[in-house]
Amino acid sequence: MCSVCSALIVVILMNIKTVGVVGAGTMGNGIAQVFAQAGFSVCLVDVAQPVLDRARAEIERSLAKFVEKNTLTADARDATLGRLQMAAGVDRLAAADYIVEAIVEDADAKRALFSGLHAIARPDVILASNTSSISITALGAASGRADRVLGMHFMNPVPLMTLVELVRGQATSDASMRTASELCAALGKGNRPSFEPAADPARAEPLYLRVADGLRAAGLAVETGRFGADMAVDLVNDGPVTFWIETRGGSLVK
Ligand SMILES: NC(=O)c1ccc[n+]([C@@H]2O[C@H](COP(=O)([O-])OP(=O)(O)OC[C@H]3O[C@@H](n4cnc5c(N)ncnc54)[C@H](O)[C@@H]3O)[C@@H](O)[C@H]2O)c1
Repeated sequence: MCSVCSALIVVILMNIKTVGVVGAGTMGNGIAQVFAQAGFSVCLVDVAQPVLDRARAEIERSLAKFVEKNTLTADARDATLGRLQMAAGVDRLAAADYIVEAIVEDADAKRALFSGLHAIARPDVILASNTSSISITALGAASGRADRVLGMHFMNPVPLMTLVELVRGQATSDASMRTASELCAALGKGNRPSFEPAADPARAEPLYLRVADGLRAAGLAVETGRFGADMAVDLVNDGPVTFWIETRGGSLVK
């Protein structure tokens, strides 16, 4: 079965047809693209039209590369672009069935956005954040719907990377995690569950990032997810560090 067909089946099962993506930068563009490629209607939102114009040009450029490499037909490219809408301002997301946030990595900005989204989105809608380091529990608390807030951490470049890290906040429900996992499958991406750091994220995160930088300096093309529960515990105990790496070739190394 083709990927769009299997995605459509999942969409019907989950009743998620329209996905809102907030933030049309590097990650938001890629996230909007992969959802649209998988058959979802997408509304990509940012603060101003020029940003959205750049985002559309970037997505067109990315899709053109897939067509050049014969991994996407011209018809599929046109259909993907047909499913992609852009809007300045989040009001249009009242119609979204699922929302992914990919704005700047600023805790205050994200908390304000999640609070605003709660007023706009239907009560049943899950709000996912692509944050690399900000607490999902804190975003959940700001949102007023903590059980429907989770981390959906895509890797860069989103259209090529095959792993999504799903981060569970303290109040995230099983049902929300399941839905996010099914969405990853609909996108043709694997997922790995992760948890909020057990303790002292201020101490754990810089070390984690230094490990990643060291691997890059050694010539490895790595994309790293957030540290998971095991690693957070290991770091707190000053024990050996466990982490996952997804190579650009798509293999997963522990
Ligand atoms: N760049 C990466 O490699 C990478 C990888 C994984 C995760 N992330 C995470 O993804 C998120 C986005 O990163 P990025 O690199 O795409 O950032 P970026 O700076 O490229 O894009 C952010 C976009 O958000 C927009 N924005 C800011 N505030 C907004 C608001 N209130 N409403 C709507 N739009 C708003 C900005 O105008 C900008 O276009 C961050 O949380 C980052 O930590 C980034």
